[in-house]
Amino acid sequence: MFLFFLFIVVQIIAGAAGCSITPEQTIISSPEGSNTTLTCTYDDSAYYLHWYQQKPQSESKFLLLIYKSTETVKRAEKLDPRISIRLHKDKKKVDLEIFPAAVSDSGLYYCAMEPTVTQNSYTL
Ligand SMILES: *[C@@H]1O[C@H](CO)[C@@H](O)[C@H](O)[C@H]1NC(C)=O
Repeated sequence: MFLFFLFIVVQIIAGAAGCSITPEQTIISSPEGSNTTLTCTYDDSAYYLHWYQQKPQSESKFLLLIYKSTETVKRAEKLDPRISIRLHKDKKKVDLEIFPAAVSDSGLYYCAMEPTVTQNSYTL
């Protein structure tokens, strides 16, 4: 059985101009039980990299984020342990990994970046 991940991107622009984050793939289908990796490419202005999930007929839900400089990960409460985040600083990529993938994981996934500490960007 195959499941489908529809995968698009949003940009969180909090003050700084010119930041960008781009998904590597837009539609992914992968077999149940497989190791599914969604990848986004970010630019130098990124400090925090986030992943969100949206299921049909529901709001998007924060999954987890990674702070680029220390690689500290913050997970949503009660986040499924099958979901993890991985940073490849050398390639400027951030992955969302789901292993083993289940049919119920199908949905829309967003990557987002914050260019700076949120608190500072509000004052800009
Ligand atoms: C899933 O695949 C990625 C990319 O190939 C790999 O880096 C990672 O170690 C794999 N994770 C598991 C749990 O097998």
